[in-house]
Amino acid sequence: MRVLFIGDVVGAMGRDMITEYLPRLKKKYRPQVTIVNGENAASGRGITEKIYKKFLQDGVDVVTLGNHTWDNRDIFEFIDQAKKLVRPANFPEGTPGQGMVFVKVNQLELAVINMQARSFMTDLDDPFRKMNELVEEARKRTPIIFVDFHGETTSEKQAMGWFLDGQVSAVVGTHTHVQTNDARILPQGTAYLTDVGMTGPYDGILGMRREPVIEKFLTALPKRFEVVEQGRGILSGCLLEVDDQTGRAKTIQLIQINEDHPFME
Ligand SMILES: [Fe+2]
Ligand SMILES: [Fe+2]
Repeated sequence: MRVLFIGDVVGAMGRDMITEYLPRLKKKYRPQVTIVNGENAASGRGITEKIYKKFLQDGVDVVTLGNHTWDNRDIFEFIDQAKKLVRPANFPEGTPGQGMVFVKVNQLELAVINMQARSFMTDLDDPFRKMNELVEEARKRTPIIFVDFHGETTSEKQAMGWFLDGQVSAVVGTHTHVQTNDARILPQGTAYLTDVGMTGPYDGILGMRREPVIEKFLTALPKRFEVVEQGRGILSGCLLEVDDQTGRAKTIQLIQINEDHPFME
């Protein structure tokens, strides 16, 4: 099974990159499943039902989230009906939404888990112990398991990769918005990447307008951050190839599209 994963879609520019490039990426890489992290899809903050549906229309199979899950109030109106939407599984018990979904691919199934790290982030339930629970549940149905681990620190993400080596097909990080160059297959067959990077404005700071961000560093005063609305775009992703029988990853390949790395058909 081939799985395409695209990192944090930021604002309208990010959404437009999906609409423009997803068909071309599908043609080139032929993934059976496409997963997109959409936590910043609505002006950098959360996701709306309209945007979620547009993702599905554009050919996305599963949308993952992160610490911005609740930033757009619209989410509470549709998250419980959104079957292809996953939010971090370690939000407190009883929180709306789901932390894991299953996608059917012919005779096979792929489990997609979204989990949030804790270092320099909100104090959620322990992601490691929660992961043990979910992996046990998922493996009753399928050995093919994809994890979007949404976290700030490299160490916590690496720890999760090694913690799950041999248990899941891939642990791919999101949240930092900058793609790391450490894609690898761990010894027991789990593909690992610290961060897949973002999709949206190429010339902002993590997708936001630069001036208020720099001003905040200069003055330490509160500033309103706004998404960059026009200019050059970037798309960041990775492509996984997984053994159907064992769920072990065979390859993981970085994808980056921007003016410095133009897309080749
Ligand atoms: Fe993000
Ligand atoms: Fe995030």
